[in-house]
Amino acid sequence: MAGIDYIERIPNNVSLAENRRLLRALEDWQPKFLEWWRDMGPDGFQAKDVYLRTATSVDAKGWAQFGYTRMPDYRWGIFLAEPEPGRQINFGEHQGQPVWQEVPGEYRGTLRRLIVTQGDTEPASVEQQRHLGRTCPSLYDLRNLFQVNVEEGRHLWAMVYLLDAHFGRDGREESEALLQRRSGDHDKPRILGAFNERTPDWLSFFMFCFFTDRDGKYQLASLAESGFDPLSRTCRFMLTEEAHHMFVGESGVGRIVQRACEIMREHKTDDVRRYGGVDLPTIQKYINFHCSVSLDLFGSEVSTNAANFYTMGLKGRFEETKKKDDHRLKDGTYPVVTVTGDQIITRDEPALVSLNERLRDDYVADCQRGVNRWNEIIKSHGIDFTLKLPHRGFRRAIGAFAEVKVSPDGRIISEAEWDARCRDWLPTEEDEAYVASLMQGVTERGMVAGWIAPPARGINSQPADFEYVRLG
Ligand SMILES: [Fe+2]
Ligand SMILES: [Fe+2]
Repeated sequence: MAGIDYIERIPNNVSLAENRRLLRALEDWQPKFLEWWRDMGPDGFQAKDVYLRTATSVDAKGWAQFGYTRMPDYRWGIFLAEPEPGRQINFGEHQGQPVWQEVPGEYRGTLRRLIVTQGDTEPASVEQQRHLGRTCPSLYDLRNLFQVNVEEGRHLWAMVYLLDAHFGRDGREESEALLQRRSGDHDKPRILGAFNERTPDWLSFFMFCFFTDRDGKYQLASLAESGFDPLSRTCRFMLTEEAHHMFVGESGVGRIVQRACEIMREHKTDDVRRYGGVDLPTIQKYINFHCSVSLDLFGSEVSTNAANFYTMGLKGRFEETKKKDDHRLKDGTYPVVTVTGDQIITRDEPALVSLNERLRDDYVADCQRGVNRWNEIIKSHGIDFTLKLPHRGFRRAIGAFAEVKVSPDGRIISEAEWDARCRDWLPTEEDEAYVASLMQGVTERGMVAGWIAPPARGINSQPADFEYVRLG
C-alpha cells in the first residue's frame, strides 16, 4: 500500500511503479527535498493557497492544470517528453548511431558532471529568491514568483531522477549534495557564480528571470540535443516550463520601463524617482549587471571541455538538427570575439573549441530581441532613450575578458577609468537602497505597486483582480 500511495504522490510518466530500486531511492530523497523546501524555499506563504499550474502530462495541449495549491503540496513530478521513435545521435563521433538509453560507461563521469551542474542551478535560484514574497508588487507577481519557484523545484526533481535512475550510488550521493549546497554560502556555495549572487529586490528578480533563466534555456536546449536520450527528453520538457520564467522576466522589466515612461510623460520630467518609479538609467545599470553575470555562465570562449562534450555526443549546439553542416566540426572555424593586448578583435578559431562562444552568440541575439521590445515601449511614449546590452567583455570574470576592464560600449579601459566610471555603469549602493525603498508588499486584490505598470493580462485568462494567492 505504501508504495501505491507514494506513486500517487509523485506524478510521473516514467513507469516509476515498475522500478522498485528507483522508487526506494526517490522515496528516500523526497522528505529531504521537502525539508530543504521548508528551510530554503519561499519564506512565509507556505500555508497559503496559490493559483499554480501543475504539469499533468507532456502533450503540447494538456500539460498544465491550474488550481489552488499550498506550495508544499505541489505535485512535483517526473516528466520526460515523449520518446522519438528511431531517434539517432545527431552530432559528434557517434553521429548516426541509435541514442543511448543507458549511460555509456566511458562518459559516465562527464555526463554526471553535466547533470549535476545543471541540477545545482535549480534549487539555487529558489534560495536566491526566497525573501521576495514579502515585498511583492501585486498578487499576480507573487503568484508568478511562486510558480517559478515550484517549477525550479521540479527541475531539481528532473535532474535527481536522472542521477538516481542512471548513476547508482554516485547518483544518490549527488542528489543529496544538491540539497546541501547553499546559494551564497562561503563554505558550501552553489557551483556557478551567478547562482551565488543575491536577488534582493524585484527589479533584480525580473532581470534574473530575463537573463539568467535564459541562460538556462540555452543550456537546456543544447542538452536536449544529447545522445543520452533520457537527458534529452527531460530537458525538452523542462524547456516548456522555462519559457514562462523568461516571460515573467521580460514582462516584469517591461512593466517597470512602461511605468517609468508614464511618469516621464505625465510629469514632463526625467526625475522618475521623485514620483516613485525606477528611472531608465537605473534599469540600464541592472541590465549591465545581470547580463554580464549571465554571460559568464557560458564559460570560456575557447574550451576543450565544450569540444569534448560535443564530440562525445553529450551536448549539442542550439538547434543542432536545423544546422546544415557535417555536425562533427572537424574542419570548420567560428569567429570568436577576444582580446589581444589592449585590442578587442574577432578571430577565427576551430569551430569545435568555440562552441561556448557560439551558444553565447545565440543567447545574446535572443536577449537583444527582448531589449528591442523594451525599447519599443520607450519609443511608443515618444521618449528618446535606448536600453542596450553591455558589450560581452564588460565586467566578465570568466574567459578572455576576465583580465581586462571593458566599458559597456566595448572599449578596453584603464583601471583608473574603470574606477572613475563604474558607478555610472553598475548599480551603486544608493541605487540599490532606492530600489529597496520601493519594495513594499502590495497584496490587495487588483492593486499594483506604483513603480510597475499592471500586467497586460491575467494568468490563464483570469481577470486583473483575481485572487492569485489567498492570503486570508
Ligand atoms: Fe530551471
Ligand atoms: Fe527557470
